[in-house]
Amino acid sequence: MKVVSDIAKMRELSFQTRAAGLKLALVPTMGALHGGHLALVRRARSLADVVVVSIFVNPTQFNDSGDFAAYPSDLDGDRTLLAAERVDILFAPSVEEVYPQPALTAVRVGELGDHLCGPTRPGHFEGVATVVAALLHMVGPDVAVFGEKDYQQLQIIRRMVSDLHFPTRIASTPTVRESDGLAMSSRNRRLSPAQRETAPAIFASLSAAAQAFVAGEKDAEAIKAVALHRLAEYPQLQVEYLELVEGASLQPVARADGACVLATAVKLGDVRLIDNVVFANALCEQDTLSFAPIGVNHHA
Ligand code: PAJ
Repeated sequence: MKVVSDIAKMRELSFQTRAAGLKLALVPTMGALHGGHLALVRRARSLADVVVVSIFVNPTQFNDSGDFAAYPSDLDGDRTLLAAERVDILFAPSVEEVYPQPALTAVRVGELGDHLCGPTRPGHFEGVATVVAALLHMVGPDVAVFGEKDYQQLQIIRRMVSDLHFPTRIASTPTVRESDGLAMSSRNRRLSPAQRETAPAIFASLSAAAQAFVAGEKDAEAIKAVALHRLAEYPQLQVEYLELVEGASLQPVARADGACVLATAVKLGDVRLIDNVVFANALCEQDTLSFAPIGVNHHA
């Protein structure tokens, strides 16, 4: 595995790959890798000949400087995991390399940032979209792979790539979970043992709401009430939002009739966790249908 930190070298390798007629896939990450990231890497491997994983903790997407400072980092561990996955290139540029001067130019995300994580994380999605645009320019991949766990981010990137005519295809992968249902996240490392024990209640609550949907409930308030009722059993969980939104526009719906997603952000102490269940598929790719994994026996 080549480890590259400068953009010019990355571009050269990308150029050589495509000149040899090979396809290149990029998996953008912020490191502290876990099984969710590795699922993206495997998907990338299935779609291209050369797999690039970027690790860059992007300061401009952290609206809270404490969150940025506390963001976990484990470059040695990450390198070992990626080498075992036969990743071809680890691209890990420094902040100075990516932002040699304070950036004045940014990508706006319009109303896709109006709900879910948008209101509580001002500037976050602008920071994400802008750095992903920059990474796509640096690496020049044929395909880039993102996780459905960050559903709003995924749809924002799909829309950016479409609006700005990027020549890159966006692929996605369903959320990878721990055996008790908790969505894998770099932030899980910051949970205390007691918090870790409570955290699976987030997905259990979303699953209960999805069960109600499958049983015929279509009213958004009633569906949300099922999840909120379950979450309320855990006083340690502070719900930041729980919304049922249309899958592509990310606007709230009154009824779960078409493609929609139930998404939440919950705080456990100072650790903020997000999760979602997709009630009906709103993603463009037919091969990534990801219905809510309800009815799964997590203790099996
Ligand atoms: P990060 O949180 O490191 O996530 C990198 C990618 O892994 C994202 O596409 C995310 O959706 C995916 N991912 C995380 N947990 C997952 C899980 N449990 N199952 C499936 N996929 C999962 O998201 C970012 O970094 C950044 O915002 C980034 C896109 C790199 C821009 O800085």
